[in-house]
Order: sequence, then C-alpha cells, then structure tokens
Amino acid sequence: MMNYSKIVLKHFRNPHNLGKITKPDGVGEVGNMACGDVMRLYIKVKDDRIEDIKFETYGCAAAIATSSAVTDMAKGKTLDEVLKLDYEQVIKDLGGLPPIKVHCSLLAIDALDEAIYEYLVKNKREIPRDLEIKHQKILTRGRH
Ligand code: FES
Repeated sequence: MMNYSKIVLKHFRNPHNLGKITKPDGVGEVGNMACGDVMRLYIKVKDDRIEDIKFETYGCAAAIATSSAVTDMAKGKTLDEVLKLDYEQVIKDLGGLPPIKVHCSLLAIDALDEAIYEYLVKNKREIPRDLEIKHQKILTRGRH
C-alpha cells in the first residue's frame, strides 16, 4: 500500500463531486500518458463563476483524491481564480503525495483548464494566453 497522507485517504474513500453534469457548459477530458488513466471533468458556469463541477475518472487513489480536492477548491470561484490553481498547491493541501504519484495530480488541473477552455471557446470569449499555452501542451501530450 502506498504511503498516502490521511487527507488523501479521506478524499479517496469519500470523493467529493464525483459524477457527471447533464448539459455542462464545459467538459475537459485528459489522459495520463504514463499510466493510460483518463479523467473527465464537467463544469456549469454562472456569472463567470464555477456554479457546479463534477468529475469521472479511471485513475488511481492519488488521481481520485486530487480531483476531489481540486473540484472542492474550484466550486464557487471565478474562472480567473480557478485558472490560478496549481498542482503544487493542491499536493501541499493534501499533505503531500508519494513522488511517483505526483504526475497523477496533473490530471484534475489539466481537465479543469480544458473544461474552462471549452467553455470560453463555445461562448466566443477571449482565451487568456497562459490557458492557450496549457491547452496546446495538453494537445501535444495527447489526450488519451
Ligand atoms: S497511476 Fe494513473 S492516474 Fe495515477
């Protein structure tokens, strides 16, 4: 058994915001090339805030725990605030991750960025430069 922190295990055993949103405003789907696991994240946006957020993943305990934590952090925040979330902060808030599991924590943040990207494109909104760069990187790595 991996040496996970108590917070990681708590999220893993009882993940928050697990599931699917019907008629989402944006969907982000990414894959982890290292292990082949996949994550799909759905958002509902109202007045530029994340009104609702859910995720589905075929991932390990670290991926599930980080997704649970990331979706908690994103709910109710503005899109600008959410785009500033970074995986190092998420790992810190979770009490750390075993080094070989750090790559798993990227899935949730990447999927969230992709969901916001899709939302902005669908609504013909300007894409922030940083988000465009992240999107291109995710495309280059391959979705799954
Ligand atoms: S091993 Fe695949 S997401 Fe963690």
